[in-house]
Amino acid sequence: MKLLVTGGCGFIGTNFILDWLSANKGLVVNLDKLTYAGNINNLESISSNPNYHFVHGDILDRDLVKSLLLTHQPSSIVHFAAETHVDRSIHDPEAFIQTNVVGTQHLLEEARIYWEQLPESSKKSFRFIHVSTDEVYGSLAPNEPPSTETSLYAPNSPYAASKASSDHFARAYFHTYGLPVIITHCSNNFGPWQFPEKLIPLIMLHAKQGISLPIYGDGQQIRNWLYVTDHCEALRIINAKGIPGEVYNIGSRSEMTNLELVELLCGILDKLLPNSTHVPHASLITFVKDRPGHDRRYDLDSTKIYHELGWSPPTNLQERLESTVRWYLESTAWIEEIASGEYREWIEKHYKK
Ligand code: NAD
Ligand code: TYD
Repeated sequence: MKLLVTGGCGFIGTNFILDWLSANKGLVVNLDKLTYAGNINNLESISSNPNYHFVHGDILDRDLVKSLLLTHQPSSIVHFAAETHVDRSIHDPEAFIQTNVVGTQHLLEEARIYWEQLPESSKKSFRFIHVSTDEVYGSLAPNEPPSTETSLYAPNSPYAASKASSDHFARAYFHTYGLPVIITHCSNNFGPWQFPEKLIPLIMLHAKQGISLPIYGDGQQIRNWLYVTDHCEALRIINAKGIPGEVYNIGSRSEMTNLELVELLCGILDKLLPNSTHVPHASLITFVKDRPGHDRRYDLDSTKIYHELGWSPPTNLQERLESTVRWYLESTAWIEEIASGEYREWIEKHYKK
């Protein structure tokens, strides 16, 4: 089995490729533009693996995508490439429209052209997995049931709107052309290699240095936290057993407020770094101006993937959070490389206002 992965140098893509290559044989071609969020060094450990091939390029470049498909003849495309940070989408939505909407449509169109000329058996087994988010369903009221695959779309941020738009194109390519597209919606991922603009790695970086831990608004917003490797496992199962044209939610059972999560992380840090001068780390928590249009609550119903494909979310959040905290404490070279240049400018621009 050969895969074309887009955005494989980002957070989930990195974890997915490492997980895939440890479980499968066959070529993985990774097409990544290496934006600020992409880091080629994440995959250094497999750079000489003959089953791994990196291509520096843009999903908007149709000629490049066309030639990669014809040269490598993948049996699946797993599409992660995107602009992903809600706060950046609020500052400047343009790149989100270009990559997430136009880029996805370019990829779908080249996939369709490639897929149409495949022999019948390869045509049948081909899959285009479009990785989307719970954020397209919008904000849930406190007692509202979790979003299901048939919930209405109600995206509230420019990021969510761009992902919702790309989902609609993915759906349309299945219904109009028969391209075997599967759409997945996952909740907030956490784990190694996440760019430190997102909540958990940002808290790790700040707490280690004794810098304030910014909580937007009252910190009572609820998110559902999914360990990235569990997400990757679900994607592998969907690639093998998922039905074209279907949508699958991939959530976890760990709903909590942002404040509860940050307090939990601080408790883990206190335990792992008892001699730090920043103990208790929770004293660094600072409430800052809220994100405009901040969604209050997300939660996903993952019953469908459990009943139809046999995947269910694990329950050991504390253990997974602890191993994530350890990873950020140990990965000092990775963090030092990332936490310079463009990253500093972002932190300055976003938090100093
Ligand atoms: P990320 O921001 O860490 O990585 C994105 C990757 O895409 C980077 O390597 C970047 O260089 C690459 N990229 C961006 N624009 C590109 C382009 N035009 N052409 C080629 N490559 C490009 O993102 P992530 O957190 O790994 O998310 C991966 C996917 O999962 C995204 O589609 C995102 O919407 C979705 N998702 C993520 C989460 C989460 O919690 N991280 C939750 C739900 C859904
Ligand atoms: P984030 O990691 O940006 O993911 P998303 O917006 O895609 O859910 O944020 C997770 C939650 O944490 C979200 O409710 C916003 C909040 N948050 C803070 O309170 N402070 C911060 O500095 C950041 C980056 C996020």
